[in-house]
Amino acid sequence: MLIALCSVKGSPGVTTLTVALAMTWPHAESTRRLVAEVDPSGGDLAMRFGLATTPGLVSLAAAARRTRDPAVVWDHTQALPGGARALVAPPGGTHASAALSTLATAPDGPLLPAVARDTGVVVFADCGRVDPGSPAEAIARCAGALVLVTGAQGDDLAHAAARLGELARWTPRPGLLLTGEGYPTVDVERELGVPAIGRLPHDPVAAATLAGHRQSLARRRGNNGGLARHAAALARTLAEPAAPAGPPFVSTAAGVPGVPAQQLRQPGGVIIAPGHGPHSSFPASTPPQVSDPRRNGHQPSAAGKEPFA
Ligand SMILES: Nc1ncnc2c1ncn2[C@@H]1O[C@H](COP(=O)(O)OP(=O)(O)OP(=O)(O)O)[C@@H](O)[C@H]1O
Ligand SMILES: [Mg+2]
Repeated sequence: MLIALCSVKGSPGVTTLTVALAMTWPHAESTRRLVAEVDPSGGDLAMRFGLATTPGLVSLAAAARRTRDPAVVWDHTQALPGGARALVAPPGGTHASAALSTLATAPDGPLLPAVARDTGVVVFADCGRVDPGSPAEAIARCAGALVLVTGAQGDDLAHAAARLGELARWTPRPGLLLTGEGYPTVDVERELGVPAIGRLPHDPVAAATLAGHRQSLARRRGNNGGLARHAAALARTLAEPAAPAGPPFVSTAAGVPGVPAQQLRQPGGVIIAPGHGPHSSFPASTPPQVSDPRRNGHQPSAAGKEPFA
């Protein structure tokens, strides 16, 4: 099984969630779990978990030129706490991007989708921010499920709305996951015309744990009612077989100021042409929950993760 996770703006917590899903996946003891850092702007896992940057994405890309055996992927992984494996990306966007492009053009494709087809294997692909033309697209397009993680502020949602339709066509099972504070989930669902598969709470303590700091997630499980619990619930949902297509969804509105109406597809595969219902102004119709909502951890950067010269 291949699950892709991505964002379209800022740093809403994709990497954190990817690690959380791998750590809380059901029947973890009988599942080979691989967190694949295929973020073209560079990786964080090596730094966060004190791993080397090799073996990793760069060494796998080189190996993929010589072999067509998907099992070679495991040779380029390292251990994460909790038993999952990590395919780490180098911190620099230039190297990560180049490795991804090489992997995508390997003779038999990027290998990761192939290894994810093995029984008892789940690959969680952290695709980072999927800008148009992202070299992670080739992997995301092979995913059985794709989770778009977004903040719930007006600007976050405007960016998500602009890409939802396109991303939904990449995969049979697209999901919109909200994080942090902002517009109420029900209002976001109504305005974007798609159901959210969940909403992660702002939980800096658990997020720090998932970034390799403080005590382990497993030790915190007993008293953690926030991020870990929500991630575990999402993991259970994703582990279940896809639900059959429901009745056609009729969008009541699809207006986000400054964003052209999108074609939105439901998880069941229904294509919706927004604009059938009345358009409304997102902020005007649904005031934010909080006046000074917090974001997840750090301010997003427009630049990649290249170190400053
Ligand atoms: N639910 C959360 N609550 C609070 N802080 C969070 C949450 N999720 C992530 N964070 C924090 O936000 C910051 C960004 O998280 P993360 O690196 O997972 O985001 P990302 O979407 O992968 O970003 P990037 O696109 O830059 O790789 C980190 O400091 C992380 O600890
Ligand atoms: Mg990330």
